Amino acid sequence: MHKLDPDSMVEAEPEAEESLVDIGAAHRDSKLDEILDELDRELVGLSPVKTYIQRVASLLLVSRLREKVGLSTERPTLHMSFTGHPGTGKTTVAMRMAKILHHLGYLRRGHLVVATRDDLVGQYVGHTAPKTKEILKKAMGGVLFIDEAYYLYRPENERDYGQEAIEMLLQAMENQRDDLVVILAGYQDRMATFFQYNPGFRSRVAHHISFPNYTLEELAAIAELMLREQNYTFDDESRQAFVEYLELRTRQPQFANARSVRNAIDRMKLRQASRLVTAGGCVGKEQLVRIAAVDVRGSRVFEGGLDGEAETGAVRGTLARSRGKEK
Ligand SMILES: Nc1ncnc2c1ncn2[C@@H]1O[C@H](COP(=O)(O)OP(=O)(O)OP(=O)(O)O)[C@@H](O)[C@H]1O
Ligand SMILES: [Mg+2]
Repeated sequence: MHKLDPDSMVEAEPEAEESLVDIGAAHRDSKLDEILDELDRELVGLSPVKTYIQRVASLLLVSRLREKVGLSTERPTLHMSFTGHPGTGKTTVAMRMAKILHHLGYLRRGHLVVATRDDLVGQYVGHTAPKTKEILKKAMGGVLFIDEAYYLYRPENERDYGQEAIEMLLQAMENQRDDLVVILAGYQDRMATFFQYNPGFRSRVAHHISFPNYTLEELAAIAELMLREQNYTFDDESRQAFVEYLELRTRQPQFANARSVRNAIDRMKLRQASRLVTAGGCVGKEQLVRIAAVDVRGSRVFEGGLDGEAETGAVRGTLARSRGKEK
């Protein structure tokens, strides 16, 4: 307990005047670590993005504590831009971000509304304002995620209605920032140009987060994760086949990171199912769960083709291919 020596009594005095806040306790109460751990487990890679989320969370925690001790705190503005190639996790992270901001008391509802130009901009005079208003209304209390935001701005068309939507968005980002977070998403270079021509957005977006392409290892880990979530698994051979698949697929023009992995998995599941049905007989759980190497190698990608091109399973696929060659 307390040592009653004169020194410590002298030291204790100034501290007693100060009202202390327990950051550790606030941190524990917020269950922040659990949420960040979950984020870490469920999303492969993305370490700069995860670090950023952790920083924002700390900022909100500290800002709440500052309020508690009577320091006037301006509510941090959290409009953001997410840039990166397709399938790098922008929409997924935005959804997580909305939940975390809600959990930390920053957002009232914490839902995500995804909108593109077509949702905001009308075709005729007078159509844009009600459309944009409707989307803004839907998004209040949560996150408005504007995908490919640069399509709102079409300088080549002088009387483009996009401008009307832009002005309404800017106004909401300013006046309703207590109840709305706007995330603008898209390709890095196009977004940079967009910000250059729209300084209103540039000055309102304080946080720019870029999503790198996944490495081959990360894509493989994403596949394992997605399979596990759906109660499927590779065996050693199919795992190796999938790495080879990725090596080929990543070099193709339409490659879309984790989205392509998800699509590849959907097709492997189709091939597995058709293999099992064709074989007939009885199967155990193990066979229902396992993606075999043939299920991976049935992809057109191994023949220099594009994934998703007509392929009809192992047996009929061979037939179709030999027919194709005859032509
Ligand atoms: N790091 C990751 N770990 C696990 N799954 C991921 C990861 N990143 C993305 N995914 C999954 O990949 C798919 C595509 O991700 P998402 O839609 O978030 O990408 P995006 O960047 O918004 O793509 P787009 O630009 O095409 O809209 C989703 O099914 C998502 O769950
Ligand atoms: Mg997206």
